[in-house]
Amino acid sequence: MSYTKLARFYDAVIGDRRDTATYICDLIHRYNPKTRTVLEIACGTGAVLGLLSQAYEVTGLDRSRNMLAIARRKLPHVKLYLQDITSFHLNQRFDAIICVFDSINHLPRFSDWQKVFRGVKAHLSDGGLFIFDVNTPGRLHRLSHSPPWATAFGRNWQILTITKGRDSIYNWHVRVLEHRRGNHYQLHAETIPELAVPMKDLMNWAVRTPRVGKIELLVRASKEPAIRLYTKLGFVEEGRFKNRISLPDGKYVDDIAMAWFPRRTTS
Ligand SMILES: C[S@@+](CC[C@H](N)C(=O)[O-])C[C@H]1O[C@@H](n2cnc3c(N)ncnc32)[C@H](O)[C@@H]1O
Repeated sequence: MSYTKLARFYDAVIGDRRDTATYICDLIHRYNPKTRTVLEIACGTGAVLGLLSQAYEVTGLDRSRNMLAIARRKLPHVKLYLQDITSFHLNQRFDAIICVFDSINHLPRFSDWQKVFRGVKAHLSDGGLFIFDVNTPGRLHRLSHSPPWATAFGRNWQILTITKGRDSIYNWHVRVLEHRRGNHYQLHAETIPELAVPMKDLMNWAVRTPRVGKIELLVRASKEPAIRLYTKLGFVEEGRFKNRISLPDGKYVDDIAMAWFPRRTTS
């Protein structure tokens, strides 16, 4: 299972998540300002959830025992569940559900992504908001042609290489060199597969599927503010990045956050 060895290094490598949490709070405030309860699916170590807990009543779930154990230590008052995002059942509905840091790409089949959307729908309150982000095929392709990234944290190193696997899978080879003494390091290695789904497939599915409701793509180019790119009627380009953004393949799009608003329904 992924993140078994990496869990204890995760927070130190990833660093401060304040930007992500602020961005999510802004989206929630903009699209569902009455939000009181937030569920994060695939919450990992609770890095984002902890920050959101300052503004909302939060709940989290993840399938990695090791990631969740860290979240439990950091957030003893938060309800955290060991569950799979493709089949979760909680006896509660939430005003907003989030799934961030490309967690949905971790599911190797698009049919699993659809199970997540169905689960989310079943757990959203009337008019609730789902926010998720994805690594686009364009970004994964670019990363697989990039040299390895090395990140120092404390006296340790993380080295990340992304390779193209079979079909639309990209493998993230994560190696952590944990400093022992002098020039000695202990190697911890894991490979995390991510599925690339063309944005147009995701959008076409969303548009075709009854009751999915309105779905928008909010594109962030590096640290620039989000701009709205998609409405249910078709792709709508707004804002300053018109010439730099190529949809639907996401060729020039680095990071996409999606906000999905299920239609009001009682079922
Ligand atoms: C990149 S981490 C993101 C964690 C957290 N959302 C954050 O922003 O720091 C991906 C997380 O997805 C979780 N995950 C992957 N597949 C899952 C699944 N099928 N069910 C539940 N959690 C899953 C992993 O255990 C891991 O904690």
